[in-house]
Parts: sequence; structure tokens; C-alpha cells
Amino acid sequence: MDSILVTGNGPLSGQIPIAGAKNACLTLMPATLLSDEPLTLTNAPRLSDIRTMTELLGSLGAEVSQLQDGQVLAMSSHDLNNHTADYDIVRKMRASILVLGPMLARDGHAIVSLPGGCAIGARPVDLHLKALEALGAELELKDGYVHAKAPGGLKGGKVDFPLVSVGATENALMAATLAKGTTVITNAAREPEIVDLAQCLQKMGAQIEGEGTSTITIQGVDRLHGATHPVVTDRIELGTYMLAPAICGGEVELLGGRMGLVGAFCEKLDEAGIDVRETEKGLSVKRRSDHVKAVDVTTEPFPGFPTDLQAQMMALLCTADGVSVLEEKIFENRFMHAPELLRMGAQIDVHGGTATVTGVDRLKGAPVMATDLRASVSLILAGLAAEGDTTVSRVYHLDRGYEHVVRKLEGVGAKIERIKEQ
Ligand code: EPZ
Repeated sequence: MDSILVTGNGPLSGQIPIAGAKNACLTLMPATLLSDEPLTLTNAPRLSDIRTMTELLGSLGAEVSQLQDGQVLAMSSHDLNNHTADYDIVRKMRASILVLGPMLARDGHAIVSLPGGCAIGARPVDLHLKALEALGAELELKDGYVHAKAPGGLKGGKVDFPLVSVGATENALMAATLAKGTTVITNAAREPEIVDLAQCLQKMGAQIEGEGTSTITIQGVDRLHGATHPVVTDRIELGTYMLAPAICGGEVELLGGRMGLVGAFCEKLDEAGIDVRETEKGLSVKRRSDHVKAVDVTTEPFPGFPTDLQAQMMALLCTADGVSVLEEKIFENRFMHAPELLRMGAQIDVHGGTATVTGVDRLKGAPVMATDLRASVSLILAGLAAEGDTTVSRVYHLDRGYEHVVRKLEGVGAKIERIKEQ
């Protein structure tokens, strides 16, 4: 398995281009199943998760061509010849569950493997299933698979989520576009990826209102047509690289960044003494002084502080002046980066969903291990500010959500290289 070697190398400067969003692309791609006309996505990120979704759609009979060095996905699901999403693909990526709603809405039947466990939490899909049942689906769990059918098609209904779920909102939204009648989703997720999905579906002819709010109303239509849609900027990749000059010093411009995508995050950076400024091409980030202030952070659904930036923020707070308290409210097991940061000399005390971080003057380089996608990049950020060498192993986690991480950080002066497996 490849690893990444990072050596603390002082302040950074230059520009980093931000790619299209993984978590938008992973829900936009299954939308192709809703129409027999082509759907083309531009500004697509080049990631292993996108390749897994391509493999999954291919296994159902859809065609996905990666054009322009993979940044354009030309998709068509004219002839779906298989309606079973196999465990062998689904176990690699939970987002595979997002083919369930579209397949059911399109052809009235689908069989999708349950995703199974995940490092950061139990992550059940009960809300996805309840939402589809509210649209008239008949579901049966058998041998680790959801067997779904909707004889006569899905019907509009009321979907009221007891808690905010990004994925369940996406599945319900896609399914409702072809359901007979009106669907109202309450306590819906408001993430920018949901808004991006709704805008793409509207281009395909769907009738949707309220995306970005907690109440989304969908008027079902008989069929959807083809469209071309640019994937929204990746706010998590953006936030991650905004922390590089915050943790190392210097100034970096994030090309394609927008304040509206990272509002709550920017408020916390401001509290910590980090300046974020809008530029013509994106956002520019630098510290107000050599000292970062301790801040308290609680993760919440959008527009709150994103859980997908919690690990990276912890890396920054490891060298802040004072004590910071981080509360992880979305996933029950998302502090696995903490023991690795302890190996680099950090002071972190974890109790359940709360981590108390006491800032130290400087971290020390060490061999550390990535445990999940966001934990892996938090260790790279810590390594950028540490004394000496840090080797991050199991970086296959990283490849799922960050394209060209070595090239992008090297481009602003970081000392970083990928060590290929011997
Ligand atoms: C999406 O996951 C993202 N993944 C996650 O990003 C992100 O952390 C998460 O939203 C929250 O923002 C993709 O978009 C592919 P949820 P999702 O349903 O949809 C519980 C990354 O690093 N829940 O909003 O799976 C669940 O257990 C990844 O890129 C149920 O109980 O998240 C969690 O506690 C990691 N039943 C909470 O809701 C359900 O049926 C929020 O999960 C569904 C969810």
C-alpha cells in the first residue's frame, strides 16, 4: 500500500485549484437512471469513488464514458439490463445505495445490497427505506439485500425525516421526480450537494421547489429528459486546503472557492485568527499572526459546521494557543485520527463524542496510519506543520476523496511525496 511522506517545511504560498464535489457527483451519477436520454456531468472529480460508481452503473447496464481526462462523465442508461446492485461493489462504497430510488422510480423494481458497516459509525439506511415506503414502495430485506418493488409506479407522499440525512434526502428526491402526484419532504438535508442535485434534476425536466431549505416539494412527472450539468465545487476539499496556510503560515488562494459553501467553517477560522478573503478567482487564506487561537467546534448538518472537516480542524487546533473542545454530533465513531495525532505529540482527550484538545507548541513527525478518508488528510495537514518527517500509511483512503493531493500541496511549497508500494 502506498504511503505519503510529509516534511514540515514552513509557510506556503500560491494557488490550489478546487475540484468538483465527490459527494455531489456520487448522487448526480445515479440520476442518469431516471431517464433513457444522456446525462453529461462536467467538472467531475477524478477519484476512486467515482470509478466505483462508474463500475456500479455499468453493472446495471448504463454506459459511463470518462472524457477530457475524466472531468466529463457522459452517461446513458438507455437499456438497463440488470436491476441488482451487487454486494461486491456496494461494500466498497456506501453511496451505492443511491441507485435504489432512481431504479425503483424508473422501472418499478430494484434489488440493492445493504452497505454494511463503516469505520466512522453504524450508518444504517432505515431512513432511505422508510422514505421509499412513504412513496408506496414494497420492501423486503432478504439475504443482505433490499428487494424493492412498486407495481404501478411510485406515488407522491409525505416524507418526514426524524433526523437530517443527506443520502436519504437524495434518494427520496430522485424517486419522487417520477412518482405520480406531489411529494413533500420535511426536515430535509440542506447541503449544497442536495441543491446541486435538484438543479440538475430541474434541467432534466423535474418539478422541484424548496431545495436548500428543510422542506422540498416535488411534483412528479411522466418522464425526464437528458441534460448537461457542472458538478458544484467540493466544499470539503476547499475547507481542507484552506487549513494548509492556517496550520503552516503563508497565504494560499483556493481557485473556485466560494464563501457560501463554507460559511460556518469560515466563522470558526475567523475566531481562531485566520483571515479568509474573497478574490476574483476564489478565496484567499492567511493567519492574522503566528498564533492560532483555540476555538470550540460542534458538527451539525448544513449550514452548520461540517463533520467532514472535523478531523482537519482538529489538526489545526493541536497547535493552537489554549484548549479547544470538539463535539462530533453526526457520527458516533469519528475521532480515530486522535490516537494518530497523539503519536505526533498532540494532547487530546476523547470521551464519547467530545474531544478536548490542548494546544502544543509544535507537533513532531512520526509514522501514522490513515483510518478513513478525512482522518487521512488531517494527518497530512498535521505533518505539514510538524518537525521532521511524517509518513502516512494506507493512503488508499485518501484517493477516495482527494485528487492530486501531492501535486496540489507541492504547488504551494509543501515538502511532500508519495511512496509507492514496493
Ligand atoms: C453524506 O453521508 C456524505 N457522504 C458524508 O461524507 C457526510 O459525512 C454525511 O453526508 C454528513 O454530512 C456522501 O454524500 C456520499 P447522512 P450520508 O445520511 O448520506 C444517520 C465523506 O467524508 N442515518 O446524512 O451517509 C447516520 O448514521 C463522507 O465524504 C440514519 O440513522 O450521511 C448519521 O448518524 C463521510 N439512518 C446521520 O444520520 C439513515 O437511513 C447522518 O447521515 C441514514 C442516516
